Amino acid sequence: MKGLYCIVLAAGLGTRMKSGLAKVLHPLAGRPMLMHTLDNVLALRPEKTTVVIGHQADKVRALLPPGVVPALQKERNGTAHAAGAGLAALRGADGVLLLVSGDTPLLDVETLKGLVSYHKHKKADITVLTAVLDEPFGYGRIVREDGSIKKIVEQKDANPSERKIKEINSGTYCFNIKSLKQALRHVRSANAQGEFYLTDVVEIVRRKGGSVAGIPVAEPATALGINSRVELAEAEKIIRAKINRRFMASGVTIIDPENTYVSAGAEIAPDTVIHPGNTITGRTEIGAGCVLMPGNIISDSVIGGGVKIKGYSVIEDSEISDGAHIGPFAHLRPGSVVGANAHVGNFVELKKASLGEGTKASHLTYLGDALVGRNVNIGAGTITCNYDGFSKFKTVIGDDVFVGSDSQFIAPVTVGKGALIAAGSTITKDVPKDALALSRTPQTNRENWAKENREKKSRTKK
Ligand code: UD1
Ligand code: CA
Repeated sequence: MKGLYCIVLAAGLGTRMKSGLAKVLHPLAGRPMLMHTLDNVLALRPEKTTVVIGHQADKVRALLPPGVVPALQKERNGTAHAAGAGLAALRGADGVLLLVSGDTPLLDVETLKGLVSYHKHKKADITVLTAVLDEPFGYGRIVREDGSIKKIVEQKDANPSERKIKEINSGTYCFNIKSLKQALRHVRSANAQGEFYLTDVVEIVRRKGGSVAGIPVAEPATALGINSRVELAEAEKIIRAKINRRFMASGVTIIDPENTYVSAGAEIAPDTVIHPGNTITGRTEIGAGCVLMPGNIISDSVIGGGVKIKGYSVIEDSEISDGAHIGPFAHLRPGSVVGANAHVGNFVELKKASLGEGTKASHLTYLGDALVGRNVNIGAGTITCNYDGFSKFKTVIGDDVFVGSDSQFIAPVTVGKGALIAAGSTITKDVPKDALALSRTPQTNRENWAKENREKKSRTKK
């Protein structure tokens, strides 16, 4: 939007969160609260946006996307002081300023757009986004005179009749930048909290003959900031529901949206079915026609089409190709790659392991730092011994290898294509292609030994 500038206030600690973490850094649907607010603000394509930072400034600054300018407010002397810090960072800005608090992640783009266009239409000096609440306690009250806004009084400064006013200041405003700059010079801190209130500019502008407009928000819940953990949880629910609705609208079946947690940054193709209790975080991509049975945790992974993830599997930073089957109870740790139509079954753990197309590791197995070819059968209880207490070593298994159950590979070790590892083997040396590797003590059978032993024991037993 041409001639639009934005300030996001995010210097406060957020006392009511009772947290060591600054309020705007608290995660909401998997991302810091501030990022949701910034997304909505940046959707208006302002000429320039600044975020006023103070508490845990370094952490907040590190989150800012390129182009968003931090404005450090060294002391938190109130919202007017914070707005001044923001304006200083927007040096030379002229036109309309949209000011929002970083703790209003639910404030949607449409509401912000509506506020800006109302402000322009009214040619106002200030336009306040207001809300009408049954319980206005704690908020600044909108004092109107003949319908137009005369001033805003904070809860702590309000007289009994002002406290009865149900129209409140949401804390989101549009300003004419010149008018705001002038008015800020006259703000004083002689009030109940000894702070420089941004809300005082309303009366100041009015006194100078300026115009102040107010527009009530359609859904108050979206405009009110998050102040406590209870409100954080409520916002989480709203954002989750919105994300899930977006996926459902695009063709994903979510059996129980209330118990499905998908991050906003995920991508899921149509006809994938998600059962209850799945958590999909980060930049995960899931292809079409997959089935996610209950209880999986999938983070930052890329999953192809037609993949079946049986329940209670944990998949981190991994890649799974078309048609593969994972789980139940599988754990794919970072750097794992599962080829097309491969199977990773019950209690199988992969770490930096790559399985080729059609390879199966169906039961009770650990494959770490392993490169496994195509159509390999990994028997139950196979273990790559990749760590000697100091360093990690690699196991390489060629295509079409058959690994019998209960085998161990003492890495580094390489098994050639088409080889057969006899069950129960401990492989310490490379195996040539098409060879049989067998490393177990030859079996001896003693005829009748068990029976005689039994009889002897029962004779001596009283
Ligand atoms: C403010 C409004 C109040 C409104 C309410 C809506 C004032 C004086 N009051 O009150 O009318 O109803 O919001 O939620 O503005 N901040 C800074 N630096 C500071 C002080 C605050 O960056 O020095 C930031 C905070 O981090 C927060 C926002 O400004 O994001 C609002 O500050 P807060 O102290 O929460 O104001 P309220 O008392 O809630
Ligand atoms: Ca607040």
